Amino acid sequence: MGRLGPALSPRLTCHRTLVPAPLGWDAHGRPALVRSRKTRAASSLGPLACVAAVGRGVWRLAAAAESQAAAVEEQPARTEGSTDAGAAGGAEASSKLVLVVGGTGGVGQLVVASLLSRNIKSRLLLRDPEKGVSLFGKQDESIMQVYKGDTRNPNDLDPQMFEGVTHVICCTGTTAFPSKRWDGDNTPERVDWDGIRNLVSVLPRTIKRLVFVSSIGVTKYNELPWSVMNLFGVLKYKKMAEDFVQSSGIPFTIIRPGRLTDGPYTSYDLNTLLKATAGERRAVVIGKGDKLVGEVSRLVVAEACIQALDIEFTEGQIYEINSVKGEGPGTDPEKWKRLFRSVQSN
Ligand SMILES: NC(=O)c1ccc[n+]([C@@H]2O[C@H](COP(=O)([O-])OP(=O)(O)OC[C@H]3O[C@@H](n4cnc5c(N)ncnc54)[C@H](OP(=O)(O)O)[C@@H]3O)[C@@H](O)[C@H]2O)c1
Repeated sequence: MGRLGPALSPRLTCHRTLVPAPLGWDAHGRPALVRSRKTRAASSLGPLACVAAVGRGVWRLAAAAESQAAAVEEQPARTEGSTDAGAAGGAEASSKLVLVVGGTGGVGQLVVASLLSRNIKSRLLLRDPEKGVSLFGKQDESIMQVYKGDTRNPNDLDPQMFEGVTHVICCTGTTAFPSKRWDGDNTPERVDWDGIRNLVSVLPRTIKRLVFVSSIGVTKYNELPWSVMNLFGVLKYKKMAEDFVQSSGIPFTIIRPGRLTDGPYTSYDLNTLLKATAGERRAVVIGKGDKLVGEVSRLVVAEACIQALDIEFTEGQIYEINSVKGEGPGTDPEKWKRLFRSVQSN
């Protein structure tokens, strides 16, 4: 059962240069226009990009100052030692059917791989089901099913797709700045707002928990430096989606990651995915109130999503999440409970 393996497999290679991190972050997890394809894309945008480029140093300074202030002020950080103790949902595995939306993405593929390793049934909603097969292999339908759908199109979201689903993890997204991934109008407005609104509107009211992956900075999209990352609305639309989730009546947990590290992985086979670890950044830092600034391993985010499904008191809560060098909670539900509890206000 499921703890992700002990060492980052040398066979794993990231394709971050091919698929840039959707949001603009610098190497320290602070919002910035970083050198990547999205920067090049932004630089074809004339004045907007110039403003952003000129201000880059300022954004980094501002974010650094903000980061330090948050560290002093909030002190939400809780890290837990790692063990190989059991995985979330083990006991309940057979009774769960987790719908994963965005299962081919960086976080999503780790969520799916981890559910498979725990024997938890999943259903994937994918624009391209073939991608699912190449990532996870042909799985028995009793453990993993794949449906084709684009969240932007309400007609794709046939209620039949959601029959029997008990839990949902949604980690869809696109790039914050124009890129090839916007092709066919797959923009932040369409994916992060229309898509989430469409999805949440059709989810059965019997869902026990919807875990929605958003982003740090969503409550501050009008403020520097976040306003730079929000030039094309990604943070604003994610916040609108969060609000929609909150008022949907569906029991929810919102996870706001910092800048994502580790993956997406190009070695598209299940065993390799499961050998991935959060490298040295396994210690988890959880915050509340959108004060946390930093980076987080995609493996940690995926694990947080899976753990939150089963931790009752995370219902109705919004958490920011980072990870830092050190041992982490691994897949130990008790350690995750303590982490989430450490920032609980009610
Ligand atoms: N990158 C960062 O530093 C950062 C920081 C904070 C928060 N986040 C957020 O964290 C989440 C996970 O990030 P990630 O980098 O792991 O994601 P990612 O690799 O960009 O994956 C996005 C997923 O969404 C799916 N998707 C995109 N448009 C869709 C549509 N119209 N209908 C259905 N599915 C669609 C993609 O499917 P296809 O395979 O079909 O494209 C893919 O599975 C995202 O919401 C992201 O915005 C990212």
